[in-house]
Amino acid sequence: MHLRYSTSLAALLALLNAGAMAATNTTVSTAGLQSTQCVASTASNDLYPTKSKVKYATGFSIAYHNTYKVLENRSTNNTYVLYQCGSTKPSVKNVSAFIPVPVNSSAAWATTAAIFLEALGVQNTVKNLGTAPSLVSACLQELLKDVIEPFNDSNSTDTDHQEQKNDVVFNMPGGQDTNTTNTVYSTEYLESSALGRSEWIKFFGAFFNAEERANKVFDSVDTNYQCFSTKAEKEYNDIRPVIAWTSYAGPTQYNNNTAYWQVSFANYKYDIVRDAGARMLNTTGKQSTMFSSSQAFLRALREVDIVIDESFVSYNYSTLLKNYGIADPKQANYSWVATGRVFRPDRIQSTSGGLGWFEAPVAFADALLQDLIGVAHPRFVKDGYKHIWFRNLAKSDPVTVVTASNCTDMYASRTNPAGSCSLIDFQSANPSDSDYSDVEQSRTHDLIYDVSKSEVINDDSSKQSAAAHLAGSTLAASLVAGALSMLALL
Ligand SMILES: *[C@@H]1O[C@H](CO)[C@@H](O)[C@H](O)[C@H]1NC(C)=O
Ligand SMILES: *[C@@H]1O[C@H](CO)[C@@H](O)[C@H](O)[C@H]1NC(C)=O
Ligand SMILES: *[C@@H]1O[C@H](CO)[C@@H](O)[C@H](O)[C@H]1NC(C)=O
Ligand SMILES: *[C@@H]1O[C@H](CO)[C@@H](O)[C@H](O)[C@H]1NC(C)=O
Ligand SMILES: *[C@@H]1O[C@H](CO)[C@@H](O)[C@H](O)[C@H]1NC(C)=O
Ligand SMILES: *[C@@H]1O[C@H](CO)[C@@H](O)[C@H](O)[C@H]1NC(C)=O
Ligand SMILES: *[C@@H]1O[C@H](CO)[C@@H](O)[C@H](O)[C@H]1NC(C)=O
Ligand SMILES: *[C@@H]1O[C@H](CO)[C@@H](O)[C@H](O)[C@H]1NC(C)=O
Ligand SMILES: *[C@@H]1O[C@H](CO)[C@@H](O)[C@H](O)[C@H]1NC(C)=O
Ligand SMILES: *[C@@H]1O[C@H](CO)[C@@H](O)[C@H](O)[C@H]1NC(C)=O
Ligand SMILES: *[C@@H]1O[C@H](CO)[C@@H](O)[C@H](O)[C@H]1NC(C)=O
Ligand SMILES: *[C@@H]1O[C@H](CO)[C@@H](O)[C@H](O)[C@H]1NC(C)=O
Repeated sequence: MHLRYSTSLAALLALLNAGAMAATNTTVSTAGLQSTQCVASTASNDLYPTKSKVKYATGFSIAYHNTYKVLENRSTNNTYVLYQCGSTKPSVKNVSAFIPVPVNSSAAWATTAAIFLEALGVQNTVKNLGTAPSLVSACLQELLKDVIEPFNDSNSTDTDHQEQKNDVVFNMPGGQDTNTTNTVYSTEYLESSALGRSEWIKFFGAFFNAEERANKVFDSVDTNYQCFSTKAEKEYNDIRPVIAWTSYAGPTQYNNNTAYWQVSFANYKYDIVRDAGARMLNTTGKQSTMFSSSQAFLRALREVDIVIDESFVSYNYSTLLKNYGIADPKQANYSWVATGRVFRPDRIQSTSGGLGWFEAPVAFADALLQDLIGVAHPRFVKDGYKHIWFRNLAKSDPVTVVTASNCTDMYASRTNPAGSCSLIDFQSANPSDSDYSDVEQSRTHDLIYDVSKSEVINDDSSKQSAAAHLAGSTLAASLVAGALSMLALL
């Protein structure tokens, strides 16, 4: 059995692929790969002179030995042994899976795993994807036309066959794989920092002996991120707007026909909001808070300057106001309504409404930070700055649709959409920018919203029941049920 939970995560989004013209078919490069050949069983020299070292991520570790490497799950001691093909299988105890490397074939259930593989430029090895219907990546859309086969979500026998044909299957924990011989779980979405999430490229890279590529991609993300956040730290200290990540779920069969409103407090969001020179609405360390009435929800947003709406529906500003219980925006006494600072991370979409937000921002934390600085401090990004993922809903910013025809070289490694650090340019800052409210400038205290127990639904049990629903529901239904619980983490 494959894992429906992760399938649903991956398929939060949409149902169709766009068909378009074929991309250029280039030769697959081996630059940045080490020990690409199998070795003799007696081999004992160091096959991995280029090593990856974990700097921020807390979910995994990598230890190098001459002919193999050990990836370990820090929380459960879940161990994956990656040994050079041809070499003798090392005797390591308590191993969840032995994977000969470099792998020739791979499969991925989640959008984030798929993008890590593309960022490594190893998509030529990918045989199956569980995210086919929702993928936004132009080149993965192109490959899905006739090279990569989508996992057949509706037949677990088919799926088992598909999984077994691969050297490694990247999945997420929580499901009921019956045969985990070649299954590897990744948990990039549990990291508490944006850089920690991006660093999982090293985890994926190890399977391809692509340490050099993984290190290069990540070092550049790290350097650029530090530069952005140093500027933010230095310049924005006394004018830090308060950001809330919110969502609304209408009544459905999956929530007992009871609508709810949610504020996400995923740890990585605190981290990246701070690094963007802004502040999170803080509620005493919860991962998410679900409100049972729009009044309670709006009370929590009283002192918020910027709302980032992650509701899993595509809609316009009028619909958002209606869903949030704001009848007359002119009368509403909220800074974020008055200044029209209401964003959604849905600028990049596939034809069917899949969101680019669930793909590249995880791998490219610097691009994510840059985009968030654009939201938090519009007058400090260069004139004409175009958001990558964020879209101002209140100002009806347009959506950009990506199809397979946007792919120019389907085997090339995915480029980082981040700009250089000079994109943040204080010299050209325009203090009269109307996007800035005076209110927030006077706010230097920490904003802590004390959640009253009577106002919230217990978020942990809601999350579990949403996951349980996913296990038994069809794909289309799970789009509704799964979205909000997963957004708490994403
Ligand atoms: C690309 O080249 C490979 C190997 O020559 C071939 O199998 C594949 O069909 C080609 N794909 C496209 C889209 O032309
Ligand atoms: C994991 O390993 C460490 C030391 O190797 C040990 O202290 C810890 O108890 C182990 N945890 C589990 C869950 O087995
Ligand atoms: C094997 O790993 C499990 C956790 O996955 C742990 O409980 C157990 O103690 C480990 N056994 C040994 C021998 O390390
Ligand atoms: C990859 O393919 C090559 C060539 O067919 C083969 O020699 C090697 O054993 C394969 N590697 C793995 C990890 O299966
Ligand atoms: C699933 O696929 C297998 C093999 O392709 C087939 O034998 C079986 O009938 C299918 N199951 C269903 C429920 O369609
Ligand atoms: C997937 O499985 C279902 C149920 O067995 C079957 O009807 C369908 O044809 C399969 N799809 C593909 C693409 O094989
Ligand atoms: C489990 O999968 C492996 C390959 O991934 C395969 O070789 C093995 O036969 C499978 N075992 C069962 C019981 O299906
Ligand atoms: C480590 O174990 C935790 C707890 O079971 C699990 O949630 C997580 O996915 C595991 N991580 C990896 C990389 O296997
Ligand atoms: C579902 O809603 C009904 C009517 O509001 C209520 O009586 C019932 O207790 C709810 N069930 C659960 C499981 O919350
Ligand atoms: C939220 O506020 C509390 C109380 O001041 C503080 O201890 C905590 O560190 C804050 N949390 C974050 C993630 O900033
Ligand atoms: C917003 O969307 C709703 C529902 O689709 C529609 O009825 C309404 O006309 C739209 N409003 C605007 C201003 O586009
Ligand atoms: C994709 O291609 C279309 C048509 O050329 C273009 O309008 C669009 O901007 C491209 N999208 C992206 C994200 O580059």
